[in-house]
Amino acid sequence: MKIVSVCGARPNFMKIAALARAFAARLEFEARLVHTGQHYDASMSQSFFDDLALPRPDINLEVGSASHAVQTALIMQRFEPVVQEERPDAVLVVGDVNSTIACGLVAVKLQVPLIHVEAGLRSFDRTMPEEINRLLTDAISDLLFVTEPSGIANLQREGIPAEKMHLVGNVMIDTLLAHRELAARSDMVGRLELTRGEYAVLTLHRPANVDDPATLGRICSALEEIQRTTPVVFPVHPRTRGNLERTGWLARLQQLRGMRLTEPIGYLDFLKLMSEAGVVLTDSGGIQEETTVLGVPCLTLRENTERPITIEQGTNQLVGLDPARILAGFQRARSGQVPRRVPELWDGHAGSRIADIIARWHRERSA
Ligand code: UD1
Repeated sequence: MKIVSVCGARPNFMKIAALARAFAARLEFEARLVHTGQHYDASMSQSFFDDLALPRPDINLEVGSASHAVQTALIMQRFEPVVQEERPDAVLVVGDVNSTIACGLVAVKLQVPLIHVEAGLRSFDRTMPEEINRLLTDAISDLLFVTEPSGIANLQREGIPAEKMHLVGNVMIDTLLAHRELAARSDMVGRLELTRGEYAVLTLHRPANVDDPATLGRICSALEEIQRTTPVVFPVHPRTRGNLERTGWLARLQQLRGMRLTEPIGYLDFLKLMSEAGVVLTDSGGIQEETTVLGVPCLTLRENTERPITIEQGTNQLVGLDPARILAGFQRARSGQVPRRVPELWDGHAGSRIADIIARWHRERSA
């Protein structure tokens, strides 16, 4: 079975790593990897290929940054001839980035079956570009692999036939568990002169949080408070760096004694930083899942999450963007009263389950 897998942006690489490994372990797969080039900085892309020992992409579409319409269109334009040339039995996309929907659309229009890994997640907030990407990708997929029960309920509500969807667990967690030992050897915590359990890690990149100067300012003022008692490591996403510079916050944060601003950090170093943090503050989706498995308290700086299981079972608290709520959540996280349970099937074997189901599906189709 020939399968073309697509990756494009940072959160795709850890998902694709688990799948590439599962395909490589099974003789029936001939796997091709396409990188769209949505993320292209060494720190946002190549460093993940190195850390995760990912195979070099067979093809790089090198699309780079642009507006949503231009980026999506360019990916489609460059991916179409790849699918025409390769004639795969299926195209596989992961997550919810622009590369996901762009390549998904190309596949189905060429009548190539589409597989979506991390299907069914819903924030119910259609102002998020990712929510649109998720809804549309799921609507056109032939096989949908789901990480948590809420995803199955969402797909059922949207009328997706039951036989297309499979609750299989979380490939991002496969990669985390496979790299924990290697990450433990990173000297990142020492290099930043931090003490285990006594520091916070922050990531911010959502347009809704960082593009509006007033919202960005509210988050930064909460940080001014937190860093008085707890050092905060803040690897800055390129989009966020631009906005911090424009609003004058970059210089202000850099002057604070408790703030450590860095470039984006590679997978293993970041995993080490998260594992030993006292608390993580984030607007990322994947980090809510990773902290749940690591048992590290997480404050999500958003009003909603498409990953409710991280709140119901894991260490996640939704605190929104109001500084008072962020600080109250921070105190609760530091008090050690955060419950922790690892969701069912987040056990390191999701990639294997997916590969087995795809192989069976393909055998039945070609019989
Ligand atoms: C994208 C995804 C988001 C994901 C995030 C992880 C979409 C709609 N969004 O958002 O779901 O959580 O990746 O980071 O697909 N830039 C660089 N170098 C890079 C990449 C980006 O400098 O390697 C800068 C550019 O100025 C670019 C901006 O970051 O315009 C945003 O990049 P883009 O890929 O459009 O979206 P992200 O905000 O990274």
